[in-house]
Amino acid sequence: MTTNRRSFLKLSLMAGGSVGVGLFPGVAALSAPASPKPLRILILGGTGFTGPFQVKYALDHGHKVTVFNRGRTHPGELPKEAEQLIGDRNGQLDALKGRTWDVVIDNPATLPVWVRDAAQILKGNADRYVYISSTAVYADVSKTGLEETMPLAKYTGPDAMKETSATMRASNFALFGPLKAQSEAEAEKWFPGKALIIRPGYIVGPGDETDRFTYWPLRVERGGEMLAPGHPADPMQIIDARDLAEWTIRMVEQGTVGAFNAVGPKTKLTMGQMLNDIKKTTKSDASFTWVDDEFLKEQKIIDDIPIWTSPKGSEIGYLTTNSQKAIRHGLTFRPLSDTTKATLDWFHKQTADRQSKLRAGIKPEREREVLAAWHARQK
Ligand SMILES: NC(=O)c1ccc[n+]([C@@H]2O[C@H](COP(=O)([O-])OP(=O)(O)OC[C@H]3O[C@@H](n4cnc5c(N)ncnc54)[C@H](OP(=O)(O)O)[C@@H]3O)[C@@H](O)[C@H]2O)c1
Repeated sequence: MTTNRRSFLKLSLMAGGSVGVGLFPGVAALSAPASPKPLRILILGGTGFTGPFQVKYALDHGHKVTVFNRGRTHPGELPKEAEQLIGDRNGQLDALKGRTWDVVIDNPATLPVWVRDAAQILKGNADRYVYISSTAVYADVSKTGLEETMPLAKYTGPDAMKETSATMRASNFALFGPLKAQSEAEAEKWFPGKALIIRPGYIVGPGDETDRFTYWPLRVERGGEMLAPGHPADPMQIIDARDLAEWTIRMVEQGTVGAFNAVGPKTKLTMGQMLNDIKKTTKSDASFTWVDDEFLKEQKIIDDIPIWTSPKGSEIGYLTTNSQKAIRHGLTFRPLSDTTKATLDWFHKQTADRQSKLRAGIKPEREREVLAAWHARQK
């Protein structure tokens, strides 16, 4: 597994534990009509990145929402209409006992034991189980056009139920995909025929503590000559956390089950289109210098470039995933300009310290060096 893939997986995993500033207040007011049948929805997690958007949308649709978490992430920001149960997926699940819900949405689980332990308690007390998985479950992400029916990564260790966050880290996150796949299987095992599996690709937007997408709007906004990776026609796929969260709730309302990839946008997006769209939105004077894959490799910065991947590389599946099934089931996408604006608004409200420590992207000095070397080579 390459460093690039490791960083994708690692950052996907880390997205569950942010303490950044003000995510719930950033949730746009929605004028969506109330669902025909109000549901009692239990959200395992609910206070990190995508969870708050699920909570807000579900409340706006007239549902009753309970969240279950440790109370560490974004404390004090949960809307007062939602109930909060405190516990820990590592064995402290008492708060879930003796309660009933229509549907459970499991956001943060990467370990099959987390799914098993929660699902064991909830079986019989909830009708359906929604598991937020990842496109990392596919056995071969070097293939383009990942589809739901493709083979999944197999766990080949001694006992998947004994894996922990620590053992996953120790594996350099090679276990991430296989354990997500096993977690899907657990959801289906305890809720046979009643599990909805959602497999997002790169989730982006306001509240994304990984900065993988955020790097691009910030960099374009800064302006000037900017390193653009590969070729303008290289594929790009992202999903706004709000689109994912809202669609998840609509799927819950429809009672849909089965596995669904969830990436955006609806029509093909290229790296060049993404950067130009961001440039237009930010009214920036940025000029893009496209630097080819080989040179990025030579300069050893190819793995520092977030989200983009070389079409010749081993992870092109992450940026060419087929989401047609989800689109047929009502997945919609807000314009990229909305994602760009909301991401920048959110990021600029973070503390000065947080803003000074971007967690992804090329450092300005390094970018200047690589561009100078690239121009020198062109002479
Ligand atoms: N980010 C990406 O690009 C990406 C891509 C593909 C798939 N995914 C998947 O999408 C999901 C995203 O989840 P999210 O972070 O947006 O969900 P979220 O529900 O918004 O946030 C994670 C929640 O989990 C809770 N939590 C963490 N550890 C816990 C524990 N030990 N016990 C109880 N609660 C715990 C956190 O609260 P406390 O800290 O207060 O407990 C927080 O409420 C993940 O499954 C991830 O693998 C992400």
